[in-house]
Amino acid sequence: MRLSDAEFKAMNGRIRGQLHRRVEFPLLRRLGLSESAGKDVIELGCGNGLGAELIASLRPRSYVGIDFMPEQIELAKLRAVKDARFLVGDATHLPELSDQSADVVVIFGILHHIPLWQQAVRECARLLRPQGCLIVEEPDAPALRGWDRVLRWAHPKTGFSLVGLEAQLASTGFRIEKRVRIPGVFGFYRARRVAS
Ligand SMILES: C[S@@+](CC[C@H](N)C(=O)[O-])C[C@H]1O[C@@H](n2cnc3c(N)ncnc32)[C@H](O)[C@@H]1O
Repeated sequence: MRLSDAEFKAMNGRIRGQLHRRVEFPLLRRLGLSESAGKDVIELGCGNGLGAELIASLRPRSYVGIDFMPEQIELAKLRAVKDARFLVGDATHLPELSDQSADVVVIFGILHHIPLWQQAVRECARLLRPQGCLIVEEPDAPALRGWDRVLRWAHPKTGFSLVGLEAQLASTGFRIEKRVRIPGVFGFYRARRVAS
């Protein structure tokens, strides 16, 4: 789903950029994103391409960033990250990407924007090779309610929660190998694709 104007502005602002660089990326790198070195990486909901720039420092073999909003993809392309491809697409249905075309799929906070987020998790399983790795960061439902109340970000009603995400990962053939979960606030996961 498209971001509200308020969230679009915040996501592309300086504070969010600093948080991504200094907190989220280092945490996810320690959690397993460092596996991207020499591997084929897909980022779903790549936003303005900062993730692509940070992941490029890990020297993946290839990188594809997908986002639903053409404006985000335009911003991402402006970064001119070497060898990165950016495409407009919907994480729930990505016919332009082949089955088992990635070793690592990365999600920095997008599932809570997708009414059919469970389908996006299934799409991650389709894209990953066996033993491929899904790295996910998502806010929990109470944090989302708080942001909407205070910042008026107007998230869509998706029923997303970290408990629901963990159940969906298990039922989609992922094994959670590592997790940092602050209940009600944020969750960070490394999940391995162990079955189809
Ligand atoms: C909260 S922003 C995060 C952006 C970026 N990952 C970051 O960390 O700055 C969520 C992003 O997910 C994208 N998005 C929402 N629904 C999507 C979908 N169905 N498929 C792909 N991207 C989607 C939005 O356009 C937005 O760029």
